[in-house]
Amino acid sequence: MEVIIKSDKLEAGKLGAKIIARLIRDKAKAVLGLATGSTPLALYKELVRMHREESLSFKNVTTFNLDEYVGLDPSHPCSFYSEMHKNLFSQLDLAKGASHLPDGMAQDLPASCAAYEAAIKVAGGIDLQLLGIGHDGHLAFNEPGSSLASRTRLKTLSQKTIKANSRFFGSEDKVPRHVVTMGLGTIMEARQCVLLAFGRDKAEAVRDMIEGPVSASCPGSVLQFHEKTIVLLDPEAAGKLKRKQYYLDVYAGKPAWQLWD
Ligand code: F6R
Repeated sequence: MEVIIKSDKLEAGKLGAKIIARLIRDKAKAVLGLATGSTPLALYKELVRMHREESLSFKNVTTFNLDEYVGLDPSHPCSFYSEMHKNLFSQLDLAKGASHLPDGMAQDLPASCAAYEAAIKVAGGIDLQLLGIGHDGHLAFNEPGSSLASRTRLKTLSQKTIKANSRFFGSEDKVPRHVVTMGLGTIMEARQCVLLAFGRDKAEAVRDMIEGPVSASCPGSVLQFHEKTIVLLDPEAAGKLKRKQYYLDVYAGKPAWQLWD
């Protein structure tokens, strides 16, 4: 894992957007894996800016989102479908039908999950998967205890996640209990992962993910086995890392050809 600590979440979001822009400019038909929640918002804003001001085109890009709530109509303002349309898709030149989210309204969820996995394969696999991390270490909605080899499937949210996500719904009882999420095995097949985490309240999960043992108790720790993962942090989220100074030294000493600017 490459750990990069930026001065704040805006700077980290800008760097994440540069990494994505490089991929889109280098690869004719890039496939992006996308995340929802608060964490990627600065990065999405920067991608929209690059699209408007630096002619970064998404017309050949395909996207697959990590997860969706079960039983929430896509038109619901808190569905991940709505969130993605508001914050990103409606502001880019993506082709019609190029953006995919798991179907939380499917009658036959196992078949729909298998079809989602198949669609990722048909698209050529995910080139870059964007990720956040939950306070309990979850990746996508793979809660602690999830199989490290899991595929897209139905999951039950933990109380901690229900509490954290109630800020979007107004109260805990309005948060759906079930979700459809890519599995950890699905995420691990992405050619590259970029995970962002900000704020003091993520510091423990970040420490366990990067420096703890690889364990289903911290699903994010599976990324220690990923060949190409970049973790972008602000100083608060990096606050509990034992090797913090080392990560700062590595980034400060990088040769120019390894940077994205
Ligand atoms: C969202 C997702 C989740 C979030 C995580 C952090 O698609 O997969 O794993 O990344 O819950 O959420 P925020 O960014 O709201 O702190």
